Amino acid sequence: MKDFEITYKKRLNSNMVWLKVYAPLVAKHAKPGQFIILRTDEFGERIPLTMAGHDSKDGTIDLIYAAVGKTTLLMDQLEKGDCFADIVGPLGNPTETKGLKQVLVVGGGTGNALAYPLAIGMKDAGAQVDMIEGFKTKDLVILEDELRSKLDNVYVVTDDGSYGEKGFTTDKVKELLSQGNSYDEIVAVGPPIMMKYVCQIAKEHSIPSVASLTAYMVDGTGMCGGCRIKIGGEDKFVCVDGPEFDGSLVDWEDLINRSKYYSKQEANAKAHICTLTGGVRYHA
Ligand SMILES: Cc1cc2nc3c(=O)[nH]c(=O)nc-3n(C[C@H](O)[C@H](O)[C@H](O)COP(=O)(O)OP(=O)(O)OC[C@H]3O[C@@H](n4cnc5c(N)ncnc54)[C@H](O)[C@@H]3O)c2cc1C
Ligand code: FES
Repeated sequence: MKDFEITYKKRLNSNMVWLKVYAPLVAKHAKPGQFIILRTDEFGERIPLTMAGHDSKDGTIDLIYAAVGKTTLLMDQLEKGDCFADIVGPLGNPTETKGLKQVLVVGGGTGNALAYPLAIGMKDAGAQVDMIEGFKTKDLVILEDELRSKLDNVYVVTDDGSYGEKGFTTDKVKELLSQGNSYDEIVAVGPPIMMKYVCQIAKEHSIPSVASLTAYMVDGTGMCGGCRIKIGGEDKFVCVDGPEFDGSLVDWEDLINRSKYYSKQEANAKAHICTLTGGVRYHA
């Protein structure tokens, strides 16, 4: 087996893929909530991805990614047996599980892939874990069976009502709390706007909240400043201080504004890659 070789590839929906990659040194030290930074080739950009799981015996790590732009579309061209140029990790702090008894994890869209290892990690540490998985529509639902087999309660909601219950994740959070469910912590992982409102609801109910943030990253070691965000008025780096933060302290407007910085460049790079590869291989 070669370093960074893809040993397994499974398509989860039209644009999400589950990979297992041979990276024994990373797998040996990985903990739930941590991420890696990879490059598809020696000229590639560095992108961060959460480890959805790891197996220190097999030396593999699990990555679940959405093909949304240049690098993730290039990843989509790789098959079992192909290798990434390099993978650095584990990076970031592991999920804090100490003392937690009852947790509600809320995942939105791609965020469900990031929430998956975190929810399982909390369950494995002995907490009761409920999870709300939110998606736009039925075709995008992922990881439902895997989560149901591990967690205490899993609620699936879709914006258009095509699967599970109709509504947003925030509606379901409010419903669970109004039914008298109590939690030590609510964890939000998904689009910043969803995390902002989930954390706001948690605050209204005096429940601590945690948000797993996905800022732009370059080095992943606190050197470049690319992932700087404001937490409680202080500058923090998502890569070394996070990726999980107290949701009540996040400056959401700052995060949302920063996530739009490179929209034009991203759109150009995506168009270029689609031209080179003949489009997205969604139906492989
Ligand atoms: C700590 C961390 C963990 C992550 N884990 C995962 C994961 O497990 N699975 C996964 O699919 N994605 C994850 N992401 C997001 C992932 O890094 C981006 O989707 C990826 O960098 C996009 O690169 P690209 O070149 O394909 O697209 P780009 O052209 O760079 O971006 C395309 C679109 O993707 C979105 N995007 C770009 N960068 C980010 C980012 N850092 N965070 C959120 N959205 C972004 C934007 O909407 C952008 O318009 C994570 C990000 C961070 C910071
Ligand atoms: S990615 Fe460079 S400081 Fe965090």
